[in-house]
Amino acid sequence: MQADTLVTSARDGDIAVVTVANPPVNALSQPVRAGLQRAVAAAVADPAVGAIVLRCDGRTFIAGADITEFDKPPMAPVLSDVLMEIEAAAKPVVAAIHGTALGGGLETALASHWRVALAGARFGLPEVKLGIIPGAGGTQRLPRAVGVEKALQMITTGDMIDAREALALGLIDAIVEGDLAAAAVAFARRVVAEGGKRPRLSERDERVADARGRSELFAEARRQATRRARGQDAPLRAIEAVEAGVNESFAAGLARERAISAVLKASDQSRAQRHLFFAEREAGKIPGLGPVARPVDVASAAVIGAGTMGGGIAMCFANAGVPVTLIDAAPESLQRGLAVVRRNYESTAARGGMTAAEVERRMALIRPGAGIADVAGADVVIEAVFENTAIKRAVFAEIDRHAKAGAVLGTNTSTLDIDAIAAATGRPDSVIGLHFFSPANVMRLLEVVRGAKTADATIARAMALGRQIRKVPVLAGNCDGFIGNRMLRARGREAERLILEGALPHEVDRVLYEFGLPMGPYAMGDLAGLDIGWRIRQERGLTSPVADRLCALGRFGQKTGAGWYRYEAGSRTPVPDPAVEAIVVEVSRELGIARRSIGAEEILRRLLYPMVDEGARILEEGIAIRPGDIDVVWAYGYGWPVYRGGPMHWADSVGLARIRDGLLAMRREGDPAPAALLERLAAEGRGFRDLAAA
Ligand code: 3HC
Repeated sequence: MQADTLVTSARDGDIAVVTVANPPVNALSQPVRAGLQRAVAAAVADPAVGAIVLRCDGRTFIAGADITEFDKPPMAPVLSDVLMEIEAAAKPVVAAIHGTALGGGLETALASHWRVALAGARFGLPEVKLGIIPGAGGTQRLPRAVGVEKALQMITTGDMIDAREALALGLIDAIVEGDLAAAAVAFARRVVAEGGKRPRLSERDERVADARGRSELFAEARRQATRRARGQDAPLRAIEAVEAGVNESFAAGLARERAISAVLKASDQSRAQRHLFFAEREAGKIPGLGPVARPVDVASAAVIGAGTMGGGIAMCFANAGVPVTLIDAAPESLQRGLAVVRRNYESTAARGGMTAAEVERRMALIRPGAGIADVAGADVVIEAVFENTAIKRAVFAEIDRHAKAGAVLGTNTSTLDIDAIAAATGRPDSVIGLHFFSPANVMRLLEVVRGAKTADATIARAMALGRQIRKVPVLAGNCDGFIGNRMLRARGREAERLILEGALPHEVDRVLYEFGLPMGPYAMGDLAGLDIGWRIRQERGLTSPVADRLCALGRFGQKTGAGWYRYEAGSRTPVPDPAVEAIVVEVSRELGIARRSIGAEEILRRLLYPMVDEGARILEEGIAIRPGDIDVVWAYGYGWPVYRGGPMHWADSVGLARIRDGLLAMRREGDPAPAALLERLAAEGRGFRDLAAA
């Protein structure tokens, strides 16, 4: 694409209007950078031009650098040079912002002399989410605009702020209404009439002077970043760039920013995070769906079961502004469920996360229902009752009697057979698995599970519904455990072997925590409750020698104050328990296993390689469409560290031949051979990433 078609110039009297038109998000690809450079230089050189308005066509202002260019060598002109030229321009430049000004987009606005925006515009430097830092002056100009503390917060979290806050902070000069281009031209004309001032953020010192020498400010930012983004390099490196600019000079800060950017762009962490960025978007695309109508937003929902899951799911709808009816067979459970939801909202409000009025607005969207007949008006009905096929089938037979034609009927099961549940209705084509992750109002993943008879239109609507309630939906096939829990089970099997051979539960957990996961299988078991698995094992005639013994002692996890760990009263911190160690050692002895010391490297390998193997089987069987979908499931549903890109991306970084060899080495009698797909890719010297393009 030519620079002069992506960036055009027009004159409105004495104002040059430079327009970027690079759909879908006006990313700053090389031709856009070159076009901007040329257009601004031409306007400056034109004696008839008094000021320049910089605006964008389409749905948003510039949303950042073009991420697809990151794997290529840098191409001139580099953005920071273009922005230096814009800031140095001899005529005022006014950025006219709508949609989202993100990353390099916000940096372009910050290099402009003035910024006006529509009320709906949002602003952010989300680079850390891609494992990099702002690379075109953002770490230097943002603190000079909004102050160091706020800038550190925006840069280290990557979170956006809205136009009202941006105005209050001095990030923008005005919020305008109606026709943005016309308002920006009028603003520019006023600037010219008042003498053509060109305030340059690079020259503004007072906001950074406030922070100079205040090392505690940076120490606090580091502390928070380390806690929030454990293991990630980018937030800490961003703080370093800001600090250099504050304590030294704009030029020194810019040089530091540029050097750090170059290093991080080439880092494994950034590659992993960029992979997840694109994988998340790819997961929304379902190949092979027949022609289906473009799904419209759901206008109302019903959730059956007011337990922890049902309440959390109802909150997802209320949070997205969708009225939802919450139904429970037992009136006291319904009241309790509603009270829990209210408490959740109120505790968010107490932390300053929402206003008291907002709590009431959301609660008003959650209507208590009298019975299942109340699903009648809903566009989507989600069953979240006890995890038992017979109970769920009974509920679905009842839903079938009352739900309106065309409603999506979702079951929030984490393991059960969708087809068996769908068969309880006369419309299995409308039934689909909607597997939310706990806590449902927080975790972003939604596993959408297609049954044998689920219609394409139902799949399309379920995926759209997921996005509407701000989840990341990933389509899975129907099998025991779907994508995420099936891999979790593979890991759990090996964890059990490890503790019987010599590791202790807290050692296993620590290895995974240090790898970057929020917790390991034993702390997770205690959180979820050990009794659920115990009951399922009993139903299926299975055993798990140590876990069964803990359950027999009434150690169900956090809820009973003891499980794999013990818990002080009122605390959720797992404390290793010698009593558990004694049980583990005793079970090993009973099974005739000689315990030995097992190192962290072996523990990690033995826990993660079987997950990769199971992931390969999931791909072979078509349960997941692509390796990236599995990565998205693990990043958004289980807290896999984003800087390691998900288990399949991680496997590629380790090398599949090494993983295959590791699996063969740890194989026990009766274990299956490594997945054929893994064998094949390893033999060919390829990775899962090579499948993604196929
Ligand atoms: N570069 C390349 N492609 C991009 C892109 C970017 N910065 N941002 C979005 N896209 C692509 C997406 O991959 C998607 O492609 P597809 O249709 O082929 O799947 C398409 O644009 C639409 O994106 P979304 O589906 O995400 O559209 P939404 O409307 O839901 O969201 C958005 C729009 C809020 C702009 C969101 O796309 C987003 O957050 N984008 C990334 C923004 C970002 O991270 N910017 C910083 C980049 S790094 C940088 O600027 C470095 C600088 O400091 C030098």
